[in-house]
This record gives sequence, C-alpha cells and structure tokens, in this order.
Amino acid sequence: MKFVKELKRTNYCGNLGIENVGQKVVLMGWVDVRRDHGSLVFIDLRDREGIVQVVLDPNKSETSASKNLRGEFVLAVEGVVRARPDGMKNTKIKTGAIEIEATRCEILNDSAVPPFQVDDNNVNEMLRLKYRYLDLRSPRLTNHLKVRHKVAQLVRRFLSDNGFMEVETPILYKSTPEGARDYLVPSRVNPGQFYALPQSPQTLKQLLMISGYDRYFQIARCFRDEDLRADRQPEFSQIDMEMSFIDQEDIMEMNEKLLRTIWKEIKGVEVGKIPRMTYQEAMDRYGIDKPDTRFGMEIKDLKAHVTNSGFKVFDDVIARGGIVRGIAVPKGGAYSRGQFDKLTEIAKRGGAKGLVWIKSEADGTFASPVSKFFDNAKLSEIFKATGAQNGDCALIVADDYDTACASLSTLRLHLGKELNLIDTTKDNFLWVIDFPLLEYSPDEKRWVARHHPFTSPQDQFAEDLINNNEAAYGKMLAKAYDLVCNGYEMGGGSIRIYRSEIQSAMFRVLGMTPEETQHKFGFFLEALKYGTPPHGGIAWGMDRLVMLLCETDAIREVIAFPKTAKATDLMADAPSEVNRDQLAEVGVRLSALAEKHLEDIKKS
Ligand code: AMO
Ligand code: AMP
Repeated sequence: MKFVKELKRTNYCGNLGIENVGQKVVLMGWVDVRRDHGSLVFIDLRDREGIVQVVLDPNKSETSASKNLRGEFVLAVEGVVRARPDGMKNTKIKTGAIEIEATRCEILNDSAVPPFQVDDNNVNEMLRLKYRYLDLRSPRLTNHLKVRHKVAQLVRRFLSDNGFMEVETPILYKSTPEGARDYLVPSRVNPGQFYALPQSPQTLKQLLMISGYDRYFQIARCFRDEDLRADRQPEFSQIDMEMSFIDQEDIMEMNEKLLRTIWKEIKGVEVGKIPRMTYQEAMDRYGIDKPDTRFGMEIKDLKAHVTNSGFKVFDDVIARGGIVRGIAVPKGGAYSRGQFDKLTEIAKRGGAKGLVWIKSEADGTFASPVSKFFDNAKLSEIFKATGAQNGDCALIVADDYDTACASLSTLRLHLGKELNLIDTTKDNFLWVIDFPLLEYSPDEKRWVARHHPFTSPQDQFAEDLINNNEAAYGKMLAKAYDLVCNGYEMGGGSIRIYRSEIQSAMFRVLGMTPEETQHKFGFFLEALKYGTPPHGGIAWGMDRLVMLLCETDAIREVIAFPKTAKATDLMADAPSEVNRDQLAEVGVRLSALAEKHLEDIKKS
C-alpha cells in the first residue's frame, strides 16, 4: 500500500486532450467499461469531468491489476498521454483523440456488482432513485448538477453586484401561506406546539425590508405539502429576492437583466426584451396563465357564431354566462372517430363535459357529431371562425369560463406536442401581468388570494378592499407578475401591501376572524406599523429554471436527492416510522388511521 500513497492525482480524466500528449499523468476514477483483448486491456476510466480510455498490459506486473477489474472499481492509474492512431479516434467524447498508456495501475477499492450500468437510461427510474448515488455518476446528472452549481454562482454574483444582501432565514418557523399545506414539526421543549416549515420566506423577507436592508436575496429552501407533478417537489429551492422603494417596473427590469445574464453565460444565447401579456389576454388566447407561446393554435371565441343555434348544449352554456370557444387543428380533417374519442377524453381531463369536433371532407361538406343541429353553411362558418382551413378540424368546448379554458389549454398542449408544432430549439419568455387579486373558491366557499395574502391590489382597488366591498372582489387586479418560459411558471412575485390597515382588510376578505389573524399574523401586522417602506419582490423556482436550462422535463433530474411523486426518498427510505418513545417525547400519538397504515406497510 506504500506505493499507492505515492500516487498523487495530477488531472481529471475528462479534461485531458491532444494538448496533453506526451505528459505523464496520474488519474483516479471509476471503471466505466472494461474490454479485454487478451494481450491488452482497455478501460474507460470515469471521473466527474468525463471519461478517458486507458490501455493496460496485463502481463506486466505494474499493470497486472487490470486482469481483475470490474465495473465501478476505483483505480489509480499512472501513465502517458498519447494520441490515438487515426481511425481509432472517438469524436463522441471530449478525450476521444487521446488515450493513456498505463505504466501503473492500483485498485483503490473494489465494487459490488452495481444493480445497473451507470448511465443506462433504459433502467427503471425507481431502481435508479434507490441507488441515486450510482445514477449521480452518470454524465447526464453530473452535467445537470454542474449547471445548477453555475446558476447558483451566477445568481449570487449578479445580485451581490446589484446591491442585494444574502440573508438566511429560519426553517423552523411559522406557517407562511403560499396555498399548500404546511409540513409541521413538533416541539419537544414546548409540547403541543409546532413549527411549520416555510412554504417560502415571504413574511421574513418583508420583515427584512421593514428592518431597512433594502435589497435581500437568498437561495431559499421551501417546503410545500401538495400533490406532486413532474415540475413540483415537496421541498425545492427558490431564488428569492425583495427590494424596497421600487415599483413593479424596477423589479421586472432587474429580473430581466438577471435572466439575460443566465441565458448568455449558460447557453450562450442573447435574450431580447421579454414580451408582456395580461392575465386576461393569456387566458383568452391560450386558456392558461402560463402559456407556451412557441406555437400558435390559439383559442377563438365562437359565441357570435353559435348564439341561438338551437343546439341545447351551446344555448344553455351561453344563457348561464359561459363561453363557447375552439381551436383549429392542422390536418385534423384526417382524424378518425377513435382519435376524436381520445381527444374528447383529454378535454374531459381538463373538466369539459364533452367536445364538439367539425372536420372538413374532401367534397367541401363538414362532418360533426352536431351536424343535425347546424346546416353545412353554419358548420363552415363555425369551422372557419376557429381559424381552421381545408383539411383541418375544429375542436369546440362549451362551459363556464375557467373549465372551457382549462380544457382547451390541455388539448392545445397535447396536440402541440403530438403534432410537433413546438420549436424546441428556442426558449420563449413572457411576463404575465395584471393578475386577479382574489379568486372565489367554491370548495372553501370563500375568497382566496390568487398569489398570496401580502400582494398589493392595484391602487384603484385599495378603497374597495379597505371597505370590504365584496361586489368588487372578483374584478380587482393585483400588482403581481409571473415570469413564464415555454409554458412553465419559472417565477412569480408582487408589490406588497405595506400599510397595516390594508393588510388587515385583506385578512378579513380572506375570511379570517380577528382572533385567527392575531394568532397567525399578529407579529406581522404589528411590524407593519413601525415604518414599513413600500416594497416588493419575486421568487424564481430554481429547480424549474435549471430544468429548463438543461432541457429536461422532470425537476427530479436537476435535484441531487429528489423525492418520488409520493414524496418519498427511495434511497434512504424516508419518511419512516419512528420510535414510540421519541413520539411521546414530542407529545405526539398516532391516530388509528396512522397505525393501520404502518401495519399495512409491514404486511406488504
Ligand atoms: P410562488 O408560490 O409563485 O411565489 O413560488 C415561486 C416559484 O417557485 C416555484 N415553485 C416550485 N418549484 C418546485 N416545486 C414546487 N412545489 C414549487 N412551488 C413553487 C415556481 C414558482 O414560480 N413568496 C412568493 C414569491 C414572491 O411573492 O416574492 C412565492 O413563493 O417556479
Ligand atoms: P349530445 O347531444 O350529448 O350527444 O352531445 C353532442 C356532442 O356535443 C357530443 O360530441 C358531445 O361530446 C358534445 N358536448 C356535450 N357537452 C359539451 C360541452 N359542454 N362542450 C362541448 N361539447 C359538448
């Protein structure tokens, strides 16, 4: 073993190139692949920076270890860099023009046979998550985490250069409402009392403005107990910032600059001025507040063409104040009955009760399940009003505004992908502005904050808010803005309420009793009274940002140790059962339901 100690690494495997030819190097890494040619052994040696080919003679004592190598063994290799002969160069890898002629090879550690070959993308994801540390050896994930690292460094530098101070805020804290459930942590020292993990540092960053810090940022951990999706994790990171004495324009401008810096430095792409769209326009044209504007297929209003049509579904919806809208699908005229049934299912996923389709036939007539209600001229008129042309089809939904929008948006996104209408070589950015301040929740039978309760109404609505004029709630707009990229909400923020009486009125509007307000936000309302500057901010979903930069569509791909859709960690097996004594210590007892769940797990 004395010999091994003398070997000191000189280079990373993946960084070597033709410029190193002739140099003596010492490399340390993992065996990616081993090929035995009898008199010579070839291995691909892998480290964080990439792979290099090593050639070893198993018959020489210094390199005889090459006889006993298997995948993922850890080696120290000393050798000389040489150019590969013409015809043997591998243009697919960075180091493909060279190889290492080994003069020594030491096994630093062996490896159990790995459950899968590192970087084999056909392996079941559950297995890869269980052995995440092996999957993390893959160039794919290594690159994603490098981009993430680079983004973090860029953001820190940019914001610091622009006068922002990085401040950490507590994780053991109090509920910060962002619309999800809280993760609770029982307190041993204060039995019966709980911390809530922050859904975001929202109140804390506002308190820092009250403290006069003027510009704050943090790469902040956030925790939300909500239903997970491909772009959502229970714990995630935000690039969180807050500024004082600014308006909405200032924040948008600062963040556009940050975005340009990131895209320039990471992708080498110049991003121009970012277009803006009001929430209303986004909903009307795309049916969603985070439209993917990389393709058209915009939604068209058909009300003028179908009013008093005699088709009961449309007439009833219009009479109820709903909408009839549709999209045109290029070449959809060729769709079969079965394909329309499938599209109807997709529309229903968005909440629609059905889907009317109209397709143009070669003879100039129109086929549709509603052809008995409309003559050919009318079908043609409706068809054309969706923007459809000969050979296309029109898809039409009648429902209340939100449902029809959601269904058409779901259809549009599905078809955009299926028909390859999306130009995936470009990133389309968009600011969505003028969000509604409040929305009515039929489930909770109350008004809820569309962004969060600290968002300021636009000035013309402040009076109505203070006076709790409910008739105006549905029309109030907020000083809120979202940054959208390719159909993802990459970030969102707002100008805040900074006067205590408006904040109190907001809590009242949200149906909170004075006692509840006091219990949850008394400290915050109190703080607002001590000279609060006008302020506002934004938070970017850092994981989503990196996901977009890496051009992957799963947020798990850019997080070192992510959770599954059931919020579990398959590697460490979390969450897991805890000792009953430990529970007693924090004053917690399990319900019958929880006990049953634990038993079910043990049985399975
Ligand atoms: P918001 O709730 O819009 O705003 O969150 C900001 C951004 O965080 C990302 N994000 C998520 N990413 C991954 N998994 C999740 N579960 C998840 N939830 C949100 C999104 C989103 O745009 N305090 C406010 C910001 C502010 O007003 O300044 C806030 O948290 O990309
Ligand atoms: P029906 O009269 O129920 O047979 O419906 C005729 C057509 O209208 C079918 O293709 C249904 O899918 C469609 N349909 C029903 N409800 C709606 C709706 N709310 N919006 C759009 N199409 C609908």
